[in-house]
Amino acid sequence: MKDKLIIFDTTLRDGEQSPGASMTREEKVRIARQLERMRVDIIEAGFPAASNGDFESVKAVADVIKDSTVCGVARALERDIDRTGEAIRGAASGRIHTFIATSPIHMEKKLRMTPDQVVEQAVKAVKWARKWTDNVEFSPEDAGRSDPDFLCRILEAVIDAGAGTLNIPDTVGYNLPQQFGALIATLRERIPNSDKAVFSVHCHNDLGLAVANSLSAVLNGARQVECTINGLGERAGNAALEEIVMAVRTRQDVFGCDTGIDTSQIVAASRLVASITGFAVQPNKAIVGANAFAHESGIHQDGVLKHRETYEIMRAEDVGWSANKMVLGKHSGRNAFKTRLAELGIALDSEEAVNSAFARFKELADKKHEIFDEDLQALASDEATMLEQEHFKLVSLKVCSETGETPHATVVVAVNGAERQAESDGGGPVDAAFKAIDSIVESGAELQLYSVNNITSGTDAQGEVTVRLSKGGRIVNGQGSDTDIVIASAKSYLHALNKLHSRLERAHPQV
Ligand code: KIV
Ligand code: ZN
Repeated sequence: MKDKLIIFDTTLRDGEQSPGASMTREEKVRIARQLERMRVDIIEAGFPAASNGDFESVKAVADVIKDSTVCGVARALERDIDRTGEAIRGAASGRIHTFIATSPIHMEKKLRMTPDQVVEQAVKAVKWARKWTDNVEFSPEDAGRSDPDFLCRILEAVIDAGAGTLNIPDTVGYNLPQQFGALIATLRERIPNSDKAVFSVHCHNDLGLAVANSLSAVLNGARQVECTINGLGERAGNAALEEIVMAVRTRQDVFGCDTGIDTSQIVAASRLVASITGFAVQPNKAIVGANAFAHESGIHQDGVLKHRETYEIMRAEDVGWSANKMVLGKHSGRNAFKTRLAELGIALDSEEAVNSAFARFKELADKKHEIFDEDLQALASDEATMLEQEHFKLVSLKVCSETGETPHATVVVAVNGAERQAESDGGGPVDAAFKAIDSIVESGAELQLYSVNNITSGTDAQGEVTVRLSKGGRIVNGQGSDTDIVIASAKSYLHALNKLHSRLERAHPQV
């Protein structure tokens, strides 16, 4: 029997720390459900002490997820740990992840604490967390630049205090694979009680080495990897879950362990995270990029046709790539619709939500005769967005665009239920629509990103629009999809404006 490699996903916590990737509670729950479906072992859902919104998000994830452990991160402070304990209280299986920095530069310049004080606080924090749960993880932040002797000392002490998982972060992405693997081997060898804990790693990608460093650690005995979908995360991101999982699976000849991940769910998870965060996946990204399995050169195509394994080390379908398959059409009934949603793992909460989504499916099928899985996913996303508490709601939009004329938009937006109309010219139809909306909302927000992607191919495809807005240091994303990209744009703009209107301030875990 091979060892199990535990997959700890931190898309909802470290991933959310990418500027602009912040997610609402509903969005976190949708991603968490997909992670659960993919059989991720542990979902780090957020930092409950950061804000009431973060607390509510972690709690909401803990309350609905049954098959994965739900974790919250906490600084090594009693008040953070209590908040985290409260947030995960409803989880079928919960974990508290507490951390304190251990590198000389962090201890001296950031914490202004002596090494002795850091050890004392770490031990106190782990003991405090154990009052809430038996499942406690400890991280010496910036371990990659910490003194190995000091790491041995603090880790031995926190194991004695009750930490079952020791996570070794390369917080600033400074390590090289051989060096990081050797660090894990040293810690396992030198810490006398190391057999009482699972060694985990958490690598950042500043030098593009997060996956290589994590895999080197696995070869040296780490049995948990912390990673994120699409490699999302602080600065250059974290190790990409899909790359870790597929490397270990593809190179079973080298690794003495394997994950329990259902790899066929990887592409769906990647799409969901990209669409919610507005962080598009580059086409040449390993595993989940649009070109990851595309063979362009004649020699490669010929080879693959003759014998697939000449140029393919993995099968596209094993990670969830499917050729655009027409799944439903305008004559499909409510049952077929509901069944396909269930097969895709899309859970609509009530019969009312199913009815509303079905009505929108029929409208879509009238405009676009072939409905693909990707269309259903976009429709469900749109439906979920509409079910969120909307302060600003699009009632109608009319846009005139003609050669030689200035584009003009007339929009009706319900503001807290009261309809207001406005019109505006613009450089193009989208610009005119946004200006008209802004003259009602008067947000004062700055547009940071506007992007349109076609969900499937063809000119009748739905366009999925992402808008990123910033105001007073806060950054939010909005999404909208429609076969009419100007309407999709207006929906995404209002979605972002609603988030700006409702979000509470939040703190950063490492500050
Ligand atoms: O990068 C890091 O050190 C972290 C810790 C909180 C584990 O994210
Ligand atoms: Zn991190």
